[in-house]
Order: sequence, then structure tokens, then C-alpha cells
Amino acid sequence: MKTIHNFDEYLRQVEEAKANPTQYWGEVARDLEWFKPWDQVSSGNFSELNIKWFEGATTNMSTNCLDRHLKTRGHQTALIYVANDPKQAPLKINYLELHQKVCRMASVFTNLGIKKGDVICFYMGMVPELMIGILAATRIGAIHSVVFGGFSAQSLAGRIQDCEAKLLVTNDGGHRGDKIIPLKQVCDEALKECPSIKTVIVHRRTKNNISMTEDRDFWLHDLETTATTVLPATPMKSEDPLFILYTSGSTGRPKGLMHTTGGYMVYAYHTFRNVFQMKAEDIFWCTADIGWVTGHTYLTYGPLLNGNTTVMYEGLPVYPDAGRFWNIIDQLKVTHFYTAPTAIRALQAMDLSFVSKYKLDSLKVLGSVGEPINEEAWEWYHRNIGKGRCPIVDTWWQTETGGIMISPLAHVTECIPAHATYPLPGISPILVDSSGKEITEIEAEGNLCIKSPWPGIARTVWGDHERYRHTYFGSYPGMYFTGDGARRDSRGNYRITGRVDDVINVSGHRLGTAEIEDAINTHPDIVESAVVGYPHKIKGQGIYAFCICPHALESPEQVRQELIAAVNKVIGPIAKPDLIQFVTGLPKTRSGKIMRRILRKVGEGDVSNLGDTSTLLNPEVVDEIVKGKLR
Ligand code: WTA
Repeated sequence: MKTIHNFDEYLRQVEEAKANPTQYWGEVARDLEWFKPWDQVSSGNFSELNIKWFEGATTNMSTNCLDRHLKTRGHQTALIYVANDPKQAPLKINYLELHQKVCRMASVFTNLGIKKGDVICFYMGMVPELMIGILAATRIGAIHSVVFGGFSAQSLAGRIQDCEAKLLVTNDGGHRGDKIIPLKQVCDEALKECPSIKTVIVHRRTKNNISMTEDRDFWLHDLETTATTVLPATPMKSEDPLFILYTSGSTGRPKGLMHTTGGYMVYAYHTFRNVFQMKAEDIFWCTADIGWVTGHTYLTYGPLLNGNTTVMYEGLPVYPDAGRFWNIIDQLKVTHFYTAPTAIRALQAMDLSFVSKYKLDSLKVLGSVGEPINEEAWEWYHRNIGKGRCPIVDTWWQTETGGIMISPLAHVTECIPAHATYPLPGISPILVDSSGKEITEIEAEGNLCIKSPWPGIARTVWGDHERYRHTYFGSYPGMYFTGDGARRDSRGNYRITGRVDDVINVSGHRLGTAEIEDAINTHPDIVESAVVGYPHKIKGQGIYAFCICPHALESPEQVRQELIAAVNKVIGPIAKPDLIQFVTGLPKTRSGKIMRRILRKVGEGDVSNLGDTSTLLNPEVVDEIVKGKLR
């Protein structure tokens, strides 16, 4: 077992993983259950992009999350479900029950003709059936692709078309505070252009009125009547796809990152265990939605692979009031709490009495994920939630990395405000300068790359390996480029400074500026637009759109509303522009490229030094933009 209990052990494992990665990861993997052992721990490299882990082995994710624990801890709680409605008592599901539920759902899928290798898309609220559903998919070797319930019909359709999902699982509606999100209605809209979907399963949650299409839509509770609760897991090859998850990049449409069975499983298991350091009786709560990678790796797979107890919460942090998180922590005696800086900042902005009402004395470890955490939020979290006694693991990772890459290990390595600190054993971060040369000085700032493969890395972009190569390995050949910038201090601690590409991080949601521009440009009156991120007190980054729209001069407010509606339709409410400035031109270089650097400066509210503008084709628009700036 490769559990790291103290700092010396951490240093030893770093050395071991460096000297002999195959032996290291082989030993980690042996904790898990394999139907057939591997012939080779790893092969492939970042030049040929043919990375494989545990080749020759067969295993199954659901067996490792569930069956493996039944003898030793079948009666232990696997999942505690907290509904949106605070009056509803938490639901506890133990490992035996979860196993049964997963088998039954897998049987429902099988009865509908779903086979190994088929893609099942999930568009649901945060209900246990979502977790059960993805585990059931893995049980029969189907590939899951979860789409966050805040995405629009058009986004959902685009993702379904890209992965050619056969089955869609949804809810009638989702609870969000006192609102009901019409999930099924969005599916109906999306499915007008998704011929690959033959069947829709609807899980009843909100009991709102929906329409059911005959021979296509079925209620889950009806399908369950003919399902079995005993269903053997399908042996999967280690490199068989486990899931596809779409995420935004600098250009083009969102990419479907594909993770494979064996490597992702080993990585989720190992990183959860060592970063969070849970004891058997501890209770872990990750507040992420399963629609994001954090909800995959650390709400579902990490805790279950380790036989721990995981909490799933349906609702909003501020419903019925800003004390809901702290209330749940006290009520369930949560020991490990993992959330995003944007949530911390939003709750920090509320009256402290929402926190001081609660004891929070069960807490042992706090975590942060999804975006850089500013020092002020770190200190507030540390003092008011952790009461100064809980370490904060500031975990840096990405959809592409499958699991945590750089982070303190709770109670093992040092936590430094706003720093992700040290890499996990087996992870080789480096900083490179703009020409791609490795910066060898310890104290440095540069672009963050990873030198060699690890088990959890996404293997490809679904259906487009060339895009995978180009996006992640095109900038600096032979290494994985994260898209993030970082600083390293004299002791080797990393501090992530944020994206250096055209990806922005809005409330922990990753969005491409190009994607938002495309959505804005669907408005018939828009000639051209440019979107940049700007510092936002709560969201981390806000969305600032500069739009050329001659018609807007007559009724700017109306056009603004129409643009927000357009973004809502194409992407969803999470991409709503915060600021829209109408301009007559955008600063362009002589080759016709928008000089975003200038727009970013305007967004930062710092126009005192706009840098060299001599290469601009149209320097006069800069004055106009600065005059009309909204920050
Ligand atoms: C950012 C979320 C600073 C980063 C797990 C990365 C962070 C992107 C941190 C990935 C952190 C994530 N400190 N920045 N602890 N964690 N990020 O794919 O810019 O949704 O590239 O995965 O979030 O976002 P994604």
C-alpha cells in the first residue's frame, strides 16, 4: 500500500517514483482488484502519444468501487444524500445497497440493448441516480458522458452528436433553490437534432409536467420493475474508455476528453487517499456537481474506490440561506470538506453570523479546487471554517489530468496560503519560457508543463486525436502543456497564477472566450466581438464582451438583453456576459488579429500603460474603447 503518512515518506516516494515509475505505479495498482494482471505497467510517450497503462490487464470500475468492499464494509455508508429541501432528512445508502442499486440500473441499461462501448449521456440534477447511473455504465462497459445540467439544449445536442450517445438519462426537472430546472424539456429540444439517441430514461424528481415521446421516453421506475439486482461486472481492458467529459479550450467547440479504465482508476484511488488522508469513519463532502471532473473523481470514484463515505448535495450554497453548507457539515459531522474558491468568496461576502451559528468541530481537512484561491479567501476559510486547525489542500489539476497533480497532502506536507505547493509523487511539473525552454532556476515563473505521463492523463480527444496532439503537445513538443502559468518559490512550491491561453475561469467554470464570442456572433446585428476575462471579486473572473454592433446605438439595453439571451441559448446561463461594451472597432494588428492584450488591460481597469500599440492597424479605436470602458 502506498499511503503516505509523513513528510519523510513523501520524499521517499517522490524519489522512488522518479527512479522507477513502473515499479511505483505497479505497487499502487496492486491495492485494487484486477481480473487479469497487466503484462506491462506503462508504455508510450508524449512524442508518439500512444500512452498506455496496465496493458493486458482486465478490471472493472464498479467492482472496485463496490463489490471489493462488500465483505469488509458492506454495511458502512457509502453515500449520504442531502436534498435541496432542508426539511428532507438525509438519505444514507450503504455499500450493499449501493451495489444493488447499481446492478439494477445496469440491468435496466442492458435490457434496453446497451452494450460495452456504447455511450450513455447523463443530463441530470444532483440526485443519487446520477452517481448510480455512471457506476452502472462502468459495470457493463458503457462509456458515460455527463453533461452539466446548466448547459443549454444546443450545448447538450452538440455533445451528444459528438460522442454519438445512444441513450440519454435525465430527470423530469432539477431542484435549485426554490426554482425547478426543466431538464427534460431541454432534452426534448436537444433531441430534435440527435438521431443517435434511441432511448431516453427519465428519473422522476420534481414531478413537474413533462411530455413523454412514445417508444423513446421511459420512466426509470417502470423500467426497474423488470430489472435484476444481481448483475456481474463486465471485464474491461485497462485501456478501454471509461468516460468522455467535455471541456472548453482556447479555440473551437468543447473537446471530449477521454479517460480510460485502469489508469484513471488507479490515479483516482491513489490521489484521493493521499491528498485527503481519510480514516474509515470519516465523512467526505465534495460540493462539485457530477457534471464536472471534480464530481467524477472526488465526489464519486476517489471516495468509493477507497471504501469511504461521500456526501452529495442537491442544492445551492445559499438555499435556504448562506449557512446551508455549515449547517450540513454540523448535521452530518463532515470531516473533510472540498469546495471551490468562488463558493468561499461568495459566502465570505455574507454576514459572519451565518458561520458563527455552527460549531464546525467535526472538520479535519479543508480543500480548494477549480481556480486560484486568493490569499484573503484562503485566510477566511482557514480561520472561520477550519478554526485555524484544519489544513487546506489547494489542489491543482484539470479535466485532462484525471486527478490532483500538485497539492499539499493533508497533515503530511506544509500548506501555504494560495499555493498548490508540491507535486504528488510520480508527477513531473516543469516551467518553460515562451520558447519552450525549461527554466532550470528553482525560483522562477513560466508556463506549466508536465514532463512525463502519469496513469490518469486523458488519452485523447474523442474522435480527434490530432486535436489532442495539437492542443496539449503542439506548443512544446514532447511535453504536456497545461495552459496554466505558475510561479515556483525557492523551496520548489508552486503557485498557479491562472490560464495563459484564451480560457477563462468563471466561478470555477471553465469557458473558452472563442466559444462565448461565437455565441454572441449568432445575433444578426453583431459585426464582430471579442471576449476577455476580468478580475471579479466573487467569480474569480467575469466575462467582458466588446461588440461591434451599429444598431445597438439606438437601443443598447435591448441589444444587451438579446446578446445575453443568445449566449444562454448557445451555451447556457453560466456563460452570461457580465459587461457588454459596444464599440465601433476592435484593436487589430496589421495581420488582422485582435490584440487581446489591450482588451485585457481595459478589463483589469488598468489603462495607464497599454504597452506597444504601434503595430495596430487602427490605434484610434483604443481611445474610444478606453473612453467607454465599463471598469
Ligand atoms: C484551474 C478542475 C489554481 C486551472 C479540476 C486549470 C486551478 C483549470 C486550481 C482546470 C487550483 C484548477 N489553483 N487554479 N487549485 N485547480 N485550477 O478542467 O486554470 O474544470 O487549468 O478542472 O482550473 O479546470 P477543469
